[in-house]
Parts: sequence; C-alpha cells; structure tokens
Amino acid sequence: MNTPSIAQAGHEKKRRIAFFDSGQGGLTVWESVVSRHPTLNTIYLGDNARYPYGNKGADTVTRYASEAILFLAAQRAELIVVACGTASSVAVERLKQVFRLPVVGIVEGFCAEAAALIANNRRIAVLGTRFTVASGRFEAVLRQNGINNVWQRACPLFVPLVEEGVSQGEIAEAACRMYLSDIPDDVDVVMLACTHFPRFASAIANTLGALKNRTVILRSSEGDTRLYSCASAQDPIILLDSSSSVVSAVDAFLASHANQNEFHSGECSLYCTDAPARFAQVAQVFAQKTLPEPKLISLGSL
Ligand code: DGL
Repeated sequence: MNTPSIAQAGHEKKRRIAFFDSGQGGLTVWESVVSRHPTLNTIYLGDNARYPYGNKGADTVTRYASEAILFLAAQRAELIVVACGTASSVAVERLKQVFRLPVVGIVEGFCAEAAALIANNRRIAVLGTRFTVASGRFEAVLRQNGINNVWQRACPLFVPLVEEGVSQGEIAEAACRMYLSDIPDDVDVVMLACTHFPRFASAIANTLGALKNRTVILRSSEGDTRLYSCASAQDPIILLDSSSSVVSAVDAFLASHANQNEFHSGECSLYCTDAPARFAQVAQVFAQKTLPEPKLISLGSL
C-alpha cells in the first residue's frame, strides 16, 4: 500500500473525530453529528479526485478508503466515520480488521434502526449506488436483524444530479420514476443508503407519494419532516437516512471516554483531493453550516 503524502496537513494536538467520503455527500452525516455536538473537533476528507466510488469494485474502494484512513490517522483522528454508503458496504469490514483505530460505517446501526420500524411481512427498500446494492451488504445485515423482505435498487444518477443542484423538479422526479416505478406496494421504510441521497429526499418523496398514494416522511437525527402529504388512511412511507445511527455511534464513542471534553474546542478542518474551489462550491449543497476552506492533499498513487 502506498503511503499518502500529507500536504498542508496540520498536526495540532487536538483530539478529533474524522469523517470520510468519496466526495461531499458525507457532509450530510458530518452536519448531523456537528448539529448534535456543536463544539466537537472534526476533520472531513472528501476523496473527490477518485469520486465516484459507487461504480468501482470492492478492492479499489478498500484501497482508496485505506489510504484515506492513513491520512486521517496521521491527523490524530481517534474515530473514523466512513460517511459513504459504498465504502461502508464494500470496505468497512476489512478496514476494521486492518486498522487499530475504531472505524464506523453507516450500515450496522442504520439497518438495526430500519428493522425496528418494520412490521411483520412488510418490506424495506434500500436505495444506493451500484456497488452498494451489488455488495448485498445491506440485505445481509437486515437479514441478521430479522428482515427478509428487502427490495434494493441502484440509483447512481441521483448522485451527479444532486451535485448539480438538480434535486427537485421535473428532471429529478423523472430520474426517480425511472428507478422507483416498480417499487413494491408493501414497502414501508426506504433506506437512503447513499450519503448523497438525503438531499434528493424531496424528489423521492414526491415520486413515491404520488405513485403509492401515501404520505411520505423523512426521518433523520433532526426528527421527522413530512415531505409529501396524502389523505389516504395507509401508514406513511418512512424515508430513513443514516444520520441518527451515526450520531448514536459517535455518542457511544464519546461516552466511552472519561475525558470527552478534550474532543470539544470547535475545530473543523476540511480536506479534498482535487479542485478545492469546486469542492467548496458543491459542499454547500450538502452542508448548511459554514465550512472552512478545503485544503488540497494527495492520497496514495491516485
Ligand atoms: N456518497 C457516496 C455513497 O454514499 C456516493 C457517491 C459515490 O458514488 O462515490 O455511496
């Protein structure tokens, strides 16, 4: 494995938690955690030079994620949150074996949360990137949680659309219809298994609500938001994002440290692997909070 070159990286002695994604989508997860812990010291790395991960194979994504973790470990991160559905699905199990640092992905807690919401004989839908779906990881972990009725669909087009700011309206809903028009009627919970997708939730909700004549609610760490209203007597469809489960994992990590105050001085650093100005522009699609200027680094052989 190549050692990452650490350009412009700080070496301050703050204790911190790191977040990593192929690009900016993981900022949805970062923002949920920072909303809960406003003074938490964080580092965010988006590997946008090698984005998207969703169409790449498990070995490649595992290598990329390993290089990212080596960089973040060198920044003295003490917990790595893999805020990427694809890397969480195809790489996290191997990463946990290789690194001594604790690594948390979005799959386990998220699947447990979804499973707890579903009644007998009803179904969970998993929407992700091509390789998240192909990995079968969500399906397998849902099965461990007692859920056998799972419908999966790869929705790779949602990723560039949301990055272009096309997350609502005719084009966004046409993409939703293309992927979701055959979703089964017994789906009650839809897992947004790609960290880009929370910003596409309105288009998904409008499409599903109109298709199924049901109310649609987005459930996140911020609570419930009704995205599509319908007078039908059926229970609402719940769109579930991974934020609550990641916030819980971070809470548990912090609670396991007697001196958790040392993680709190409100420091945040942002790193990317290509075109920082463009990275910053797209980042604002995913984070409402003001972000620091991204610093350019290079990872591995690229
Ligand atoms: N944020 C990534 C994920 O959650 C999607 C983008 C990509 O394909 O790299 O899978």
